[in-house]
Amino acid sequence: MKISFEKALLKENILDYQEKINAVHESLVNRTCKGNDYLGWYEWPYNYDKEEFARIREVGKEIRENADVLLVCGIGGSYLGARSAIEMMKGLYPGDKPEIIYTGNGLSSTYLCQVLEHIKGKSVYLNVISKSGTTTETAVAFRVFQKYIVDTFGEEEAARRIIATTDKARGALKHLADVKGYREFVVPDDIGGRYSVFSAVGLIPIAAAGLDIDEIMRGCQKAYEDLKSPDLNTNIAYQYAVARRILENQGKCIEVLATYEPSMTMIAEWWKQLFGESEGKEGKGIYPASVTFSTDLHSMGQFIQEGSKYLYETVLTVEKPMLDMTFPADEENLDNMNYLAGKNVDWINKMACEGTVAAHVETGNVPNILVSLEDNTPFSYGYMIYFFFRACAATVLLLDVNPFNQPGVEVYKKNMFKLLGKPQ
Ligand code: PA5
Repeated sequence: MKISFEKALLKENILDYQEKINAVHESLVNRTCKGNDYLGWYEWPYNYDKEEFARIREVGKEIRENADVLLVCGIGGSYLGARSAIEMMKGLYPGDKPEIIYTGNGLSSTYLCQVLEHIKGKSVYLNVISKSGTTTETAVAFRVFQKYIVDTFGEEEAARRIIATTDKARGALKHLADVKGYREFVVPDDIGGRYSVFSAVGLIPIAAAGLDIDEIMRGCQKAYEDLKSPDLNTNIAYQYAVARRILENQGKCIEVLATYEPSMTMIAEWWKQLFGESEGKEGKGIYPASVTFSTDLHSMGQFIQEGSKYLYETVLTVEKPMLDMTFPADEENLDNMNYLAGKNVDWINKMACEGTVAAHVETGNVPNILVSLEDNTPFSYGYMIYFFFRACAATVLLLDVNPFNQPGVEVYKKNMFKLLGKPQ
C-alpha cells in the first residue's frame, strides 16, 4: 500500500506534527486515550481468539458447502465490513454459491418481500449479527427470515441454519439464541461495530464467501508491524491522519473518497461509517463523502472540478485489477474506437484516473491524497483496513474527540421508538 501527498496541496509540513502524533500514539499504546474501553481492535491482529477463529473457518466451510443463499442480517458496523470486503475481493458478479443477500440494514417492506420471494425453494442459511441484540432494523428482518426458515426446514434444521453473532452475555438476541440452541459467535466487548470486521462479525460471511481469512489476518498483522513506530517519516497511517487535519486547517471540511472500481463502492461506504461515526461529534469533523469514478465523473465531477472549494479528495486505486481484457479491434471501425484497440481496459481506466487527478488538482485546485493498493487480495484487504483503523483513531484523537463512541446515533432511535410505541 502506498500513499502520496505530492498533489495534496498541503500548506503545512506533516513532520511538524511529530510531537502531537507521539502523544496520540502513546495514548493508544498505553490505553489512556479517550474511549480506551474500545481499543480491542488495536492488538487484534495478534490477540484474536484463535479457537473462535477456527470455528469461524469451519462454519464458513459448512455454509459454502450447503447453502444456495446466505442471508446476512445486520446494519452499520454489523453489516458494512462484511459486504465491502466480499465485494472488493470477489467483484459484483462472482457467479458462485452461496449467493449472499444483505438484510436487516433498512426497513423497506418492498425489499423484505422481494428477498422472501427470491429465496423460495433454495437452501438458506442465516447469519444474524447484532452486538446490542436489540437493533430494530436487524430484529425486524431477523424475525421474518427466522420464521421462514423454521416454517420451511423445521425447528431442528433451523437450529443448524441460523447462526447468531452477538454479545457474549447480554441482549435479546443472545437470549433467543440460547433458548433456540443456535450456534453463537461473539462480538468482542472492547471492539465497536465499525472496528469489528476482523472478528466473527465480518469473518463469518467473508469465510462463507470462500475468501481466505488467514490471509486477511496476515495482511493486518503486516500493517500492524509496519505501523508500529509513530515516526511520521515512515508511518503512512499517521501521515494520512495528519494530512487530514492540515487540510481542515486550510478550510476543507469535506473529504471525498474516490474509487475507480464498482466493487470498491462499498469499501467507501464502510470508510464513511468509520470516519463519520468516529469523528463527527462536538460540532467538529470532516464530512466523509464518496464517489465511484469514472461513473460519477459524469455527475459529481462537475462539482468537484468547479464547485465551492470546501472539499478535497482521497483517491483510492488498485494497481492490479482482479480481471482485465484487451479492447478488440474492429475492421469497420464505425464507432471510431480503433485508436484503443489492443489496449487493456484497465489501462484506459488508469488513464481516466491520471487525467482526472490532473484536472482536479491543477485546474480545479482541489487537493488530492493518492492511496494505492497493490491488488484486491485478502492480504491487501487486511492491510488496508488496519491502516484505516489506525489512521482514523489517530486523526480523531488529534481533534481531542473520542473516536470510539457514537452518542448521536441514539437520538433518532428514541424518536422512532416513541412513534412505534415500543414498551419502555
Ligand atoms: O458502529 C456502530 O456502533 C453502529 O453502526 C452499529 O454497528 C449498528 O447500529 C448496529 O448495532 P448492533 O450491532 O448493536 O445491532
